[in-house]
Amino acid sequence: MAVGIFDSGLGGLTVLEAAQKRLPDVDFIYLADSANAPYGVRTADDIYALTCAAVQRLFDAGCDLVILACNTASAAALRRMQEGWVPEDKRVLGVFVPLIEALTERDWGDNSPPREVDVKHVALFATPATVSSRAFQRELAFRAIGVDIEAQACGGVVDAIEDGDMILAEAMVRSHVDALKRKMPEPQAAILGCTHYPLLLDAFQAALGADVKVYSQAALVGESLADYLTRHADKIGSGSSAYLTTGDPKRVSDRATQFLRRPITFTAA
Ligand code: DGL
Repeated sequence: MAVGIFDSGLGGLTVLEAAQKRLPDVDFIYLADSANAPYGVRTADDIYALTCAAVQRLFDAGCDLVILACNTASAAALRRMQEGWVPEDKRVLGVFVPLIEALTERDWGDNSPPREVDVKHVALFATPATVSSRAFQRELAFRAIGVDIEAQACGGVVDAIEDGDMILAEAMVRSHVDALKRKMPEPQAAILGCTHYPLLLDAFQAALGADVKVYSQAALVGESLADYLTRHADKIGSGSSAYLTTGDPKRVSDRATQFLRRPITFTAA
């Protein structure tokens, strides 16, 4: 039984790669909804409909656990899916909680009341749809008190990454970090709240400065998935992987190969 990993495009590969390293015996099927990316500028209803269609495709491919390796889908669609759409024998998980648990120094699944934490000033970089959902702030408020979050909607960055234009993407990162710093001059920590952004980790860190701790999701989600799977041993397989896209498989394969620096072959979803 394979675990499904979904993103609107290539960003979720950062999560998949970390999960594969952490869990070499698990079979994964990755689905990129490249024909409809980016999601970050779409309405919540639109994101919900597209995410349900993509997750259904992964259920049909035999996955009964799907990770939304997409903050935009996790923010705009996950709760609604869990409340009325996900069948009882399937599971759909998002990517927010592991990151917020790390930021608030909690162990997996620690649901004790919110408490004071060390970090007080946090910059959040995410897509426009994720920022306007306020989902990070909501999840954080369940776990921590007294944390000031300043969010920066990073329009254009996902498009530039999907087009393979990393020079433009890096320039956009510098300008979004400048804009954030005008609102919050001295963040202590920064959350990369979009799974595409770890591909620009160095650009974020350089623009923010070495003393800002940058939290990126890939490794944290890999750890959290490992924790989940040790309690669900039926997910252990032979370490295979398959890559599906709703876009042009050749174009998406070329970009993915460029980003991960190893050959990745997508086929039509
Ligand atoms: N990787 C998605 C995320 O984490 C990208 C969103 C988009 O398609 O705009 O939010």
